[in-house]
Amino acid sequence: MKSIEWRNNTVRFLDQTELPLREAYVETSDLSVLADAIIRLKVRGAPLLGIAAAYGILLGIQSAKNSSKEAMQLLFEESARRIAATRPTAKNLFWALERMRNVLRLNPRENALTLFEKLEAEAVAIHKEDRVMCDQIGSIGAELIPPGAKILTHCNTGALATGGIGTAFGVIQTAHMMNRKIHVYADETRPLLQGARLTMWELKNAGIPATLITDNTAAWTVKSKKIDLIIVGADRIAANGDSANKIGTYNLALVAKAHGIPFYIAAPTSTIDCSLQHGGEIPIEERSVDEVIGAFGKQMAPDGVNVYNPAFDVTPNELISAIITEKGIIRAPYVRTIAEAVKQ
Ligand code: MRU
Repeated sequence: MKSIEWRNNTVRFLDQTELPLREAYVETSDLSVLADAIIRLKVRGAPLLGIAAAYGILLGIQSAKNSSKEAMQLLFEESARRIAATRPTAKNLFWALERMRNVLRLNPRENALTLFEKLEAEAVAIHKEDRVMCDQIGSIGAELIPPGAKILTHCNTGALATGGIGTAFGVIQTAHMMNRKIHVYADETRPLLQGARLTMWELKNAGIPATLITDNTAAWTVKSKKIDLIIVGADRIAANGDSANKIGTYNLALVAKAHGIPFYIAAPTSTIDCSLQHGGEIPIEERSVDEVIGAFGKQMAPDGVNVYNPAFDVTPNELISAIITEKGIIRAPYVRTIAEAVKQ
């Protein structure tokens, strides 16, 4: 299964809204199709959004391959604007656009065709590097997983959300491969059920012992099933360690503190945004009321009610036991340790 691929000047992606029932792929050479897929969460998860953004640039500029460099630069900026307007929270999306823009900056004298080839190489490198980072996060993070651990996770952080084995899921999968005899409890993750539809699908495919719970069962599960640790991914991490992740993550961090168990974030350093001092500065996406009232075809609340539907929340750094990155495990004081990790 490849959640996204660049092949023959097209992007091929798995439509995640069809899971777990159908493995349906979409192939497109049209940036509008990819941008719409990102908005609708057919393609989702912070690291995957970075990869999709880089491939999206290629789709947006390829019609200028044989014209002038100036024409290509104009298309680049227009494409970058469209991609940046899809989802505001995942840092990786903006990080990847910046990496692609740097290729333009560093090659002012190249013609359009050579520029395209260099941008294509950069997009493919972003994808490959993400795969390597996932492996590193997996093996570094697995050291924090004791034998027999009961682990709670939220949303989806596996191969569907990244270019590799995943972030938090990469840690879980690596611990499983090391025969640590773990058991995973996965929150269903309302309103769009990434935990139920996607994480349970990945856990089942990987043969990892797992149990699905509703989100409001989490605190009781931690107590009654004696959960050893909670591990999740992140969409954007501020310079002080405050971390935005799927709505409901903050609840879990509070539950972890109340029960004295570790709460870990696993994310590549490309998710860290040192331009933001704290989590209050992280842009939080708010999504349609329809997702809460009737996401899967059945109306669940009366017409016209008020709905608040933020897609993410911010967990304050003091609730985070450690951040597992490809460069190592970062612990408080985060302002110093994050700055050091990003510089490396
Ligand atoms: O809205 P989504 O499904 O894109 O949200 C995804 C998450 O919140 C993930 O936990 C996060 O991106 C980390 S993915 C490795």
